[in-house]
Amino acid sequence: MAAKLIKGDKLAAIVLEDTKKVVDNLKKKGIHPTLAVILVGKHTASEIYVEKKKIAAEALGITFDLFRFADNVKQGEIEALVTALNYKVGINGILIQLPLPKHFKTMNLLDMVSPLKDVDGFTAFNLGLLDHGKEEIASCTAKAILKLIESTKVKIEGANVCIVNHSIVVGRPLAQMLLNRNATVSICHAFTKDLASFTKQADIIVSAVGKPGLITKEMVKPGAIVIDAGISKKDGKTVGDVDFAGVKEVAGQITPVPGGVGPMTVACLMQNISKLSAVQAK
Ligand code: GUN
Repeated sequence: MAAKLIKGDKLAAIVLEDTKKVVDNLKKKGIHPTLAVILVGKHTASEIYVEKKKIAAEALGITFDLFRFADNVKQGEIEALVTALNYKVGINGILIQLPLPKHFKTMNLLDMVSPLKDVDGFTAFNLGLLDHGKEEIASCTAKAILKLIESTKVKIEGANVCIVNHSIVVGRPLAQMLLNRNATVSICHAFTKDLASFTKQADIIVSAVGKPGLITKEMVKPGAIVIDAGISKKDGKTVGDVDFAGVKEVAGQITPVPGGVGPMTVACLMQNISKLSAVQAK
């Protein structure tokens, strides 16, 4: 039997509708949520993501301040900007689009963002809060994936979850959020020996690698929930990590690409900026 589709775009629309109400209420109180976005270089995927974030923000009435830099910009210049934005009244959130060019010390830069304006939840402080069960400001992709998993009504407590990604954007924050819900989590990555031995045991598989066809039907337990957060281009089409045609024959529920994790991630970003704006207004 073919798997049920997890419709990320429909769920994202609900989150955006709720967030619009929060933004409208803030505006009635004279607060105009504003997101500063720093984009360095010409990375095709980043250009697309940033454009999607801009469209969503503007549709909700959130001001989107884009700061663009050439590939060869010095880290010191971006650090000076982050410091200025940290202090600037009227800037509610700061997002540094990743990946940064190779000459950047990414973690050092991310840790310069004020935790109060850390809309991505990538600072050491906000990542640490997840260990304490405090998830208000957490990675938008991790939050999006969690909401999609929750929408399936699968029991997370006690579930075996295999996450293929160990970055601070997806794998690490998501693992912590799932551990907070008593799942048993395996985090796999490029150095994992025998990936299939982990995926085959999983009740929930999350893949965010950017390798088309990485997850095949032989690697999936019948009835498993499969969340595809990979994004690549293949023959001019946007595709995920999962061999959708094969895996949908064995999985219980599956996200499509596009229309799954992507729109939900953007919606969670909007939710994060509205939350930061509300907290700063207190
Ligand atoms: N690059 C890919 N995903 C993300 C994200 O969620 N936030 C940032 N800042 N960069 C990204």
